Amino acid sequence: MAQPAVTAPGDEKSDRPPVPGLVDRFGRVATDLRVSLTDRCNLRCGYCMPAEGLVWLPKESVLTDDEVVRLIGIAVTRLGVTEIRFTGGEPLLRPGLVDIVTRVARLEPRPQLSLTTNGIGLDRLAPALRAAGLDRVNVSLDTLRPDRFVALARRDRLDAVLAGLHAADAAGLRPVKLNAVLMRGVNDDEAPELLDFALRHGYELRFIEQMPLDAQHAWRRDAMVTADEILAQLRAVYTLEPDPRHRGAAPAETWLVQGHSTSDGRPARVGVIASVTQPFCGACDRTRLTADGQVRNCLFAQEETDLRGLLRSGADDETIAEAWRGAMWAKRAGHGIDDPTFLQPVRPMSAIGG
Ligand code: GTP
Ligand code: 5AD
Ligand code: SF4
Repeated sequence: MAQPAVTAPGDEKSDRPPVPGLVDRFGRVATDLRVSLTDRCNLRCGYCMPAEGLVWLPKESVLTDDEVVRLIGIAVTRLGVTEIRFTGGEPLLRPGLVDIVTRVARLEPRPQLSLTTNGIGLDRLAPALRAAGLDRVNVSLDTLRPDRFVALARRDRLDAVLAGLHAADAAGLRPVKLNAVLMRGVNDDEAPELLDFALRHGYELRFIEQMPLDAQHAWRRDAMVTADEILAQLRAVYTLEPDPRHRGAAPAETWLVQGHSTSDGRPARVGVIASVTQPFCGACDRTRLTADGQVRNCLFAQEETDLRGLLRSGADDETIAEAWRGAMWAKRAGHGIDDPTFLQPVRPMSAIGG
């Protein structure tokens, strides 16, 4: 069947070089694909969702398991993607998750597979995910105090998260990384306590500056707990040394925690993801796929490229790959949070996947 010509926003008169990978105008190459498997979630974290939740994507617009696996296959075999991160909403709510992981782990060359989750349900799923080929997990943990957990996530589920963490570690989904967002007046004094917990259990903790991605549009820069503030809290208790490991495209800048090591003898680390005060867009190697089959070339992108439409109209793999390349070529230099013209993306965090 003849395939339609494919263009992406900004790619209409493309000066894009004829290379197979996901390159952009600023010399970056995307090799890390973040796949949102659902926009649904069983928590209601204030930095993400309103208390009443959101209107979820209609079922028919969400990619099927076969469609997800096909698109990941195209990314891995044609576009040079080497790492796959499953996200949500909450990816453990996706019924076909273990099967998707199994099939993606069989791709050649085999990509690295990780999952970012709120941890609820991981106690039950961790062994099956490990057996399916998942390499590691990142778990959100903003507080260790049950009352604060309820204030932050609007559900009383701290015990479930802690059980999930334990199970992930026991199943060998390592290194287990923890993500903590500090919220002013709620948990902004808890950084050392969270680090103490992470060090005792051998988890790698990272603090994340809150980004303007909440569905309620309540983010205010002057209320945000900054990387500098977090580091000052940590340094009051711990000695942090520069990490000699090359950072590469990692969002987290990491430090070695003097006098602490992991259970297998590696130096213990703590990280800060300072997306707002110290953006790392210049080194970005990420491309994103939403649960309804749209490519986003940036967390903060205003435009998306519809791969689901191509898939469902019978496009072949190379046509889809070409649309994806076009989408990435149009990537902007940076998120522009500090620009006066900055606009928060229409899709909230829960439908992008972080
Ligand atoms: P690893 O350290 O390799 O496990 O990955 P990660 O830190 O990218 O993964 P995770 O899914 O745990 O994301 C942690 C935080 O980093 C989340 O708040 C993400 O939204 C944020 N993040 C991930 N990628 C990007 C990005 O491209 N841009 C920005 N600004 N933030 C990102
Ligand atoms: N700013 C920063 N991080 C956020 N997360 C969710 N919403 C935000 C936000 N507005 C984090 C979650 C999770 C990761 C995927 O993104 O805590 O760990
Ligand atoms: Fe759910 Fe993650 Fe959003 Fe919290 S941040 S409501 S866990 S999708």
